[in-house]
Amino acid sequence: MPITQIIELSNKQGMQIKLSNWGATWLSCELPVNGQTREVLLGCRSLEQYQQQDAYLGATIGRYANRIANATINIDNKQYYLTANQGVNQLHGGKLGFDKQLWLIQSCSDQQVTFLLISPDGDQGFPGELNVTVTYKLTDDNQVIILFNATTTKTTPVNLTNHAYFNLDGEISKDILNHKLKVNANYYLPVNANGIPNKGLASVAMHDMDLRQPKLLSEKLLESAERQITGGYDHAYLLDKTKAIAAQLISSDKKVTMNVTTTKPSLQIYTGNFLQHTPNRHNGEYGNFAGIALESQFLPDSPNHPDWPQPSCFLQPEQIYEHYTAYQFFINQ
Ligand code: BGC
Repeated sequence: MPITQIIELSNKQGMQIKLSNWGATWLSCELPVNGQTREVLLGCRSLEQYQQQDAYLGATIGRYANRIANATINIDNKQYYLTANQGVNQLHGGKLGFDKQLWLIQSCSDQQVTFLLISPDGDQGFPGELNVTVTYKLTDDNQVIILFNATTTKTTPVNLTNHAYFNLDGEISKDILNHKLKVNANYYLPVNANGIPNKGLASVAMHDMDLRQPKLLSEKLLESAERQITGGYDHAYLLDKTKAIAAQLISSDKKVTMNVTTTKPSLQIYTGNFLQHTPNRHNGEYGNFAGIALESQFLPDSPNHPDWPQPSCFLQPEQIYEHYTAYQFFINQ
C-alpha cells in the first residue's frame, strides 16, 4: 500500500519547495528574500488538514478542472452522467477528484519528482482508463515547472491543473489585494452565480475585467457587476498566445514577481473569494482573499462548447495529453 509522503526539492539559489503524493499536491514554496525565508504558498499545518479542507490548496486537479454544467457531457452521441459535487454541476473532477487520491511516486531526485495515478474507466462518471503523470521540477532559475501527461483507453475530456494559491508578500500577510496582476488575454468568460459560463467569450477592451496592464487587485474589486456575481475574480481568461508569458503577479512590497507561462489555452483567475475558514499553517484560519490561484486550463465547461476557439479538450486513445505550466519567481533583493 502506498503511504502519504512529503518530498522536498531545493535549488542553487536557496529556494525550496515541498510536495506530497496526496493529491500530487504542492505544499510549500519558500523563497530567500533579503536573507529571510518567505513562504509564498498558502498551506496547512499537516497532511490531515489538507485532507479535510475544501479549497483544493496546491492540489492537482483532474480529470476535469473547473466546472461542467449539469455534470453531463456528450461523446459520440452518448450522454455521460458525472458525479455532481456543486449543486447539479461538477467542480474540479467530482466528489473524488484527483486531489483526493493517493498518487504513486514514480521517480524522485533532488530537483524533480513524478507522481503517477491510474484513474479507472468510469471514475467519477468519465469514460476510459486514464494514466496520468504529473512532474514537478525546480530549476536553478527559480522556476517551478509542472508537466502534465496522460493517455486514455477511450475518448474522454482531460483538463489537468494545479490549484496553488500564492501570496507573494508571504502567506502570513493578510491578503493579496495589494498585489498587481497582469494577464495577457483579450477575452474572458462571463459566468452566472454558479460559475457556469452563460454568455460566451467577451472582449476585455473597455471593460473593468481588462488585466492587460498590471492592475491592483483591490481596484474596484467588488464594484464591478461581473465580479459582484462571483465575490471577486473567479473567471477564465483566454490567453493571447502571441505573448511569451500568460500572466505576471507582483507582490505589494515589489520584492517578488512571478511570471506564469503555459501551453494551456486559458487561465482561471481566482482571488480566494471563499477561502475563509480554511486552516492555515499556524493553528488559525485563512480569510477571504488570502491568496490568489492562477490555474492554467481549458475554458470551463469546454466539453459542452466545442465551438470555442481553443484546441479540443477531448483526449483520444491514440493521443498523448502533454501540457506544462511554469511559475518563475524573480526576487528583488
Ligand atoms: C474555482 C472557484 C472555487 C474554487 C474552490 C476555483 O478554481 O474557480 O469557484 O470556489 O476553485 O477552491
